[in-house]
Amino acid sequence: MLTLRARVKDSLAFKLLQSFRRFLSGLGQHLLDTTRDFAVVVAEHRRDRGLGIRTNLPWRRNADESGFRDMQPYDPISYAAADKILAFLALGPEDVFIDLGCGQGRAVFLAATLRPKRAVGVELNEDLFRIAMENKRTFRGGGGEFVRADAASFDVSEGTAFFFSDPFGPKTFGAVVENIRRSLIAKPRIIRVAYFCARQRSIFDSQPWLELDAELQELDTLVWRSR
Ligand SMILES: C[S@@+](CC[C@H](N)C(=O)[O-])C[C@H]1O[C@@H](n2cnc3c(N)ncnc32)[C@H](O)[C@@H]1O
Repeated sequence: MLTLRARVKDSLAFKLLQSFRRFLSGLGQHLLDTTRDFAVVVAEHRRDRGLGIRTNLPWRRNADESGFRDMQPYDPISYAAADKILAFLALGPEDVFIDLGCGQGRAVFLAATLRPKRAVGVELNEDLFRIAMENKRTFRGGGGEFVRADAASFDVSEGTAFFFSDPFGPKTFGAVVENIRRSLIAKPRIIRVAYFCARQRSIFDSQPWLELDAELQELDTLVWRSR
């Protein structure tokens, strides 16, 4: 013999009501997520406008021209993450910040506002490089330099703070890390490497001349420094 409670729970009306409740709570979560997305879009747009740059422009994705054919597509780091990574790096007036795979230049311009000795972006894609150069023209701050080059063959000997935001695959990373290593032998100095979304972290972890300085977990970023 079913209790009244069990019968109610087994009724079609009750089941439909439960389903409607699930729909409403899903809708609530969806609305919350969309509102958060809107807030991020507005904040990022304002930061771009504040700096006088545009780092979300559509761009032409040409064939992969890199020597190792392992380019990742452009996807700007969020201002929120870049702010915190740069705060951790605490660039000084002697630092040369280099973003290898800089896209439209967001991190370079943000770094330039902190007045390091130089803030340099290296970008291979022609259209992204053109946009970065246009941004340099309209940038409200000073500084920011851009070079159109394959990161694998870029001269890193001036760099003291390197930034990577998931720009390429293991082969280009291998060449870049080797270039940095050799540059340290030729010109001993302390360097730091901040790597956002560090999918190729094993390349850095396996370098005896580097030590892990910090794991900024909430930022999905690892920082190494030379020994
Ligand atoms: C994920 S985006 C990051 C953009 C920028 N660093 C940021 O955080 O806003 C990676 C960039 O690296 C560039 N890139 C990929 N391989 C490259 C290479 N071998 N040399 C120079 N740039 C490269 C891509 O064109 C793309 O713009």
